[in-house]
Amino acid sequence: MEELPWCTQCAGLAFLGFSLCVVALGAVLLLARRWPWCSCHVCRSYLTGSWARDFTNLGDWYAHLLRESPTGTVTVHVLRCTVTANPANVEHMLRTRFDNYPKGKPFAAVLGDLLGGGIFNVDGDAWRHQRKMASLELGSVAVRSYAYGIVAGEVEARLLPVLADAADNARVLDLQDVFRRFAFDTICKISFGLDPGCLELDMPMSKLAAAFDAASRLSAMRGAASSPLVWKVKRLLNVGSERELRKSIRLVDELAAAMIRQRRKLGVAGSHDLLSRFMASEAHGAGAVDDKYLRDIVVSFLLAGRDTVASALTTIFMLLSKNPEVAAAMRAEDAARDNTTPTSRTTYEHLKSLHYTHAVLYENMRLFPPVQFDSKFCAAADVLPDGTYVSASERVMYHPYAMGRMPRIWGADYGKFRPERWLTGAGGTFAPESLYRYPVFQAGLRVCLGKELAVMEMKAVSVAVVRMFDVEVVGENGAGAAAPRFAPGLTASISGGLPVRVRRV
Ligand code: HEM
Repeated sequence: MEELPWCTQCAGLAFLGFSLCVVALGAVLLLARRWPWCSCHVCRSYLTGSWARDFTNLGDWYAHLLRESPTGTVTVHVLRCTVTANPANVEHMLRTRFDNYPKGKPFAAVLGDLLGGGIFNVDGDAWRHQRKMASLELGSVAVRSYAYGIVAGEVEARLLPVLADAADNARVLDLQDVFRRFAFDTICKISFGLDPGCLELDMPMSKLAAAFDAASRLSAMRGAASSPLVWKVKRLLNVGSERELRKSIRLVDELAAAMIRQRRKLGVAGSHDLLSRFMASEAHGAGAVDDKYLRDIVVSFLLAGRDTVASALTTIFMLLSKNPEVAAAMRAEDAARDNTTPTSRTTYEHLKSLHYTHAVLYENMRLFPPVQFDSKFCAAADVLPDGTYVSASERVMYHPYAMGRMPRIWGADYGKFRPERWLTGAGGTFAPESLYRYPVFQAGLRVCLGKELAVMEMKAVSVAVVRMFDVEVVGENGAGAAAPRFAPGLTASISGGLPVRVRRV
């Protein structure tokens, strides 16, 4: 082949060099747009991790920043995230301009592999349809009394015997682990009508529970990455945490599919578990019931109903151990309103009459909300009621953990565990706070659908345990300890668990 003249070769090389420069410049500009750059003190502390010198948890640092901010709002520029503890902003996002603050695509991507198209992970019509169906089921008397029966049975037959055994053998128990197993068994029975049998302490956690744990922990790690590029590249290459996540999701899928097959075999008529109810109501509606759709709904319910309840129960007993006078007052209220023996089954009506205990649960979740923060994506640029400008596609996070620590919401004694702040009148009637000031169950159009179920479950457990036992936390979260250290995750859990000693009353 004839060689090209040198001037043509030079022109070719120059063109190649120029093209490379354009590509490199494009890449630099893209990175500059996407990569976290900012040197304000908040961003510097975030990026260098220097906040950890003065605060135990990231949430404590945010609470400090939000208390200092005149508007109760701060922006972490490197995360393109506005964080707020201002109730007017919370109401604006969750009710007034709900359509402008969807969960958004970035959130759907982080949890999409685990939750698929389940209620937690979708917006728009897909969400509206599931919400309607789920609120019908969870609101029905039949499902509620079925759920109460499950909870009461699990408390009586499994939870109390485990605690009694620890008390009689002077064994130290990890109460967080016990409550996680209890809550998993309970929510599986409520959701599928099937028993995974986790609360046998000498048994390893069931395969489903372990796979589910790993999948939610690893999905939460995606959300904590400073740039989504990091996990997306790892997923593409199927390496590290992403490889582990893929494996655990595959196991969750297989086990969920087995449960759905089993439920089909057993039949849904006359069954009150949520899976049967969804199968029945879908069959009455559109016709075909898709297994993948059922899997996604049910996995969302497991996530919603397990770790949240376990987290709240764990911190209740941590607080009761530090405040034995509150446990004594719960016992007195229980005894005054019921004439049953310590081991007899508590009725639903009795639980409802316990206003002080109700206040204890709410006061506990004010200080230790199971979901410590929650974020949405701003669809079109907006100005929040406190004057903060939010650009399109920026993340806006409201922070229940910080909101429970704001003097402008709770007064100067916000740091004190004081259930009485929830009671009014001579008889001490429970008075709820606006959910925009206390968005522990979220608020507005996507408020938690399992709130009543969760409160009933937590009340049933705490009343039964307090009635029979004194629980003393030992180790680093015992008497005199400052704030517990939380492990990163979708739901709050205490790093290292909660070792306790149990004594019969
Ligand atoms: C102490 C216990 C609980 C707490 C603190 C809690 C809190 C929350 C929060 C903060 C959300 C909003 C999540 C988000 O959209 O990002 C939520 C949603 C939800 N919760 Fe709960 N939850 C609890 C227990 C339960 C239980 C036991 C169930 C059901 C069995 C449940 C079912 C749901 C469902 C279905 C949603 C989705 C609502 C929607 O997107 O429209 N929750 N919950």
